[in-house]
Amino acid sequence: MWSLSSLFTAFSVVFWVLNYKNIPLTPSEEVGNVFRVRTYTTRSPAMECDLNGHKSNSTYFSDLDIARTDLMVDVFRKLILDLKKRDGRWVYIPLGAVASVFRREIKPYASYNIRSKIVGWDDKWLFVVSKFESPQTKKLHAISVTKYVFKMGRKTLPIREALERNGTWSPEIERQGREGMKWVQGIVDLDQIEEMPF
Ligand SMILES: *[C@@H]1O[C@H](CO)[C@@H](O)[C@H](O)[C@H]1NC(C)=O
Ligand SMILES: *[C@@H]1O[C@H](CO)[C@@H](O)[C@H](O)[C@H]1NC(C)=O
Repeated sequence: MWSLSSLFTAFSVVFWVLNYKNIPLTPSEEVGNVFRVRTYTTRSPAMECDLNGHKSNSTYFSDLDIARTDLMVDVFRKLILDLKKRDGRWVYIPLGAVASVFRREIKPYASYNIRSKIVGWDDKWLFVVSKFESPQTKKLHAISVTKYVFKMGRKTLPIREALERNGTWSPEIERQGREGMKWVQGIVDLDQIEEMPF
């Protein structure tokens, strides 16, 4: 089950390195802050537009891959590098779920920002919210939630341990992370769809 998603993760990291289509990648707002915001700025090429002449909704997902991988690599850099040094292999950070709300179209060649941040976690899952916004008007085009898990081989690394290993865990941070779960309850509840007979 993980092999496809790890392949996907590996692919997206390679893609992220090779296809750095960012105009400036802004530096972290606060180093050491788990809830820091990372901004990825890009532009909609004509190729991504559909018959209606706006950025095709499916292409939001490949942008999201770049933006949230950038956030995760920035926030968990120490964890990722330390585990690689210790075990000789990369920690996987596969996606458990993604949900998006589309609000306003993006016109061809329009630039937009994707601002991403970690909003919360439970024992196993970590939730990232990404907003697609116009840099000029700050209007919201779309908003997405991504659910992540940390895997070392078959073993799941609890979120608390991931934060501890990166040198950033405290009861106060844990409290804020748990509190942030109120924003993402919708994607948590989505899991119950598996019980629907089909
Ligand atoms: C994790 O470690 C990296 C590298 O030391 C650091 O840049 C980053 O700010 C740390 N993350 C947090 C949430 O403190
Ligand atoms: C894509 O999203 C826009 C809103 O951003 C919506 O108006 C449009 O109907 C969506 N298109 C499709 C094919 O879902």
